[in-house]
Amino acid sequence: MSENPLVSIVLGSVSDWETMQHCASTLDKFGIPYERHIASAHRTPEKACEIAKTAKSRGIKVIIAAAGGAAHLAGVLAGHTRLPVLGVPMKGWATDGLDSLLSTVQMPRGIPVMTFAIGKAGAVNSAIGALQILALSDESLDKKLDEFRKKQTEEVLSAKFPDEQ
Ligand code: RP5
Repeated sequence: MSENPLVSIVLGSVSDWETMQHCASTLDKFGIPYERHIASAHRTPEKACEIAKTAKSRGIKVIIAAAGGAAHLAGVLAGHTRLPVLGVPMKGWATDGLDSLLSTVQMPRGIPVMTFAIGKAGAVNSAIGALQILALSDESLDKKLDEFRKKQTEEVLSAKFPDEQ
């Protein structure tokens, strides 16, 4: 949470925070200010719509929505804003997140939701995706993105097997 947030993280339930804290910590790592909300597409539909409708006027550039099960949150938000919406499917309780993935990714033509991997990888990548969008018009973020990618590459190239340490 920060002043003048650029990213809005919206969770369908507080239970999604365990996974989405990895999105927030990744945004923190890059110094990207964000706000966070809990709003369900089904249980608090008015609140969800309000967050999306007012996001642009709050200075938000990217919305990240996380939900599980019949995960309509990202799609509902996308229907109420022209900001890019990144969807993160949460690992659900019945089909290991496949339900959430399909609910998030299968948007009808005309209203895109950029959908990420189920769970922690998606949570982290949604933050990096937001960074990539913001870096298009922010030189200092572009530099951080460049440094992050170089460091990541170097780490893989210099990685050793545990028995070689
Ligand atoms: C979804 O239902 C939420 O996004 C969450 O992933 C899932 C379970 O919610 P709780 O029952 O834990 O509140 O709407």
